[in-house]
Amino acid sequence: MQPMSTFVIEGLAGKKTLKGSIKVNGAKNAVLPMMAASVLIRAETILTNVPAISDVAAMGKILEGLGATVVRTNGTLELGMRELSSTVLDHATAKSLRASILLTGPVLARMGSVSFPHPGGDLIGERPIDLFAAGLQALGATVTEFNDSYTFSAPQGLKGGDYFFSTVSVTGTEALMMAATLARGKVTLRNAALEPEVVALAEFLISAGAKIEGVGTATIVITPTALHSPPPAAVIPDRIEAATFLALGALAAEELTVEQVRPHHLDAVLDVIMRMGVRVNVGKDYITVRAPEVLQPVRVRTHEHPGFPTDAHPPTMVLLTQAHGESIMIESIFDGRLAYTEELCRMGAEITCISPHRARVVGKRALRAADIETPDIRAGLAFILAGIVAEGTTRVGNAHLVDRGYEKIEERLRAIGVAIRREE
Ligand code: EPU
Repeated sequence: MQPMSTFVIEGLAGKKTLKGSIKVNGAKNAVLPMMAASVLIRAETILTNVPAISDVAAMGKILEGLGATVVRTNGTLELGMRELSSTVLDHATAKSLRASILLTGPVLARMGSVSFPHPGGDLIGERPIDLFAAGLQALGATVTEFNDSYTFSAPQGLKGGDYFFSTVSVTGTEALMMAATLARGKVTLRNAALEPEVVALAEFLISAGAKIEGVGTATIVITPTALHSPPPAAVIPDRIEAATFLALGALAAEELTVEQVRPHHLDAVLDVIMRMGVRVNVGKDYITVRAPEVLQPVRVRTHEHPGFPTDAHPPTMVLLTQAHGESIMIESIFDGRLAYTEELCRMGAEITCISPHRARVVGKRALRAADIETPDIRAGLAFILAGIVAEGTTRVGNAHLVDRGYEKIEERLRAIGVAIRREE
């Protein structure tokens, strides 16, 4: 995890020569909420299939600041939460990690108070926290704000209640579900997120004794019970990493097998690439993909699960630049997410942003190498994919942003034939 490093990619100039298999790691957006949930459990928690990514390290640092013990060995994380001594999230780390907001629910529920800065994260548009504040207020918390920092408190503990999410929010659903497990009464969450990571978090909490009904539906009901030490829990595979590898295979592989996937988490992604004419073979826990001669244009609209995931949009955009004809990408979740397309245009793509939420892509356009600084993790992967397709040597700076969610990506891509290295 070296800050300020750059990925250097020798492009294939459109050749489709990648070959072999690539394993999908545990999901960033599943392990972070599980780490936050361990705060609720006054015992040891063991997580397995944990990716070695910098967001996990950052979350671990915040937990240590609260008084937890955090031990990492290979893919295993042992979290000790018998005693916690602080209710204040480490300012600098919490600011750098949007997912630090996940801790508000569990720390408040267990300790009666939590203080934290407005969380930072990717430059993909506005990321407010109003739903967290309103949801926890509905469970009896008071919210104070001072200088871009907040304190949520509920000295007598949280009460039961009913909360409707006016916008579907993944981490909002997760934070409230976690807080509700220690509330004094039954909590009903309506218009809850359906993402597989929300379901995985609920299953983890249930394995620790929580009573949660309606998981995977829009109405989740949590009835308070005592929590105990859960059995070791494996982090689910990262469906965004899988979607990225599938896009890469569809662009540049003679044959690529993406291993350790849950195909049903990828229904919307498979629907798009199959409509583009990509041949896939879906096994129980693997998907094999081959780049076709001709990619068909397609209309993609990002949506909450089970729709097409917004985090899979940037790598898929590279695929659209290589389709013959006019494609449309509608980004319905984040209003700043299309900004990275400017850099793809510098590489030769023809992408017109008709609004902050809609882009028209005309292909096929040959891509040429460029020097790029990535603004965020998912755009970073789009630029790496574009660099692989392009002619010449592409440099993608801000590699540390890619390290937030992809473990040793250059080593794993090299193993399937990509000429990529990291330069300090
Ligand atoms: N929103 C509000 N108020 C809030 C919270 C969210 O208006 O208090 C809005 C957001 O502005 C956005 C919409 O709700 O327009 C949905 O955002 P959501 O809250 O679902 O996003 P998130 O929970 O902050 C998670 C992932 C993101 C992923 C989104 C959407 C984690 C740690 N992060 O973020 O992952 O893009 O869901 O699926 O689970 C990434 O991994 O690169 C990443 C950005």
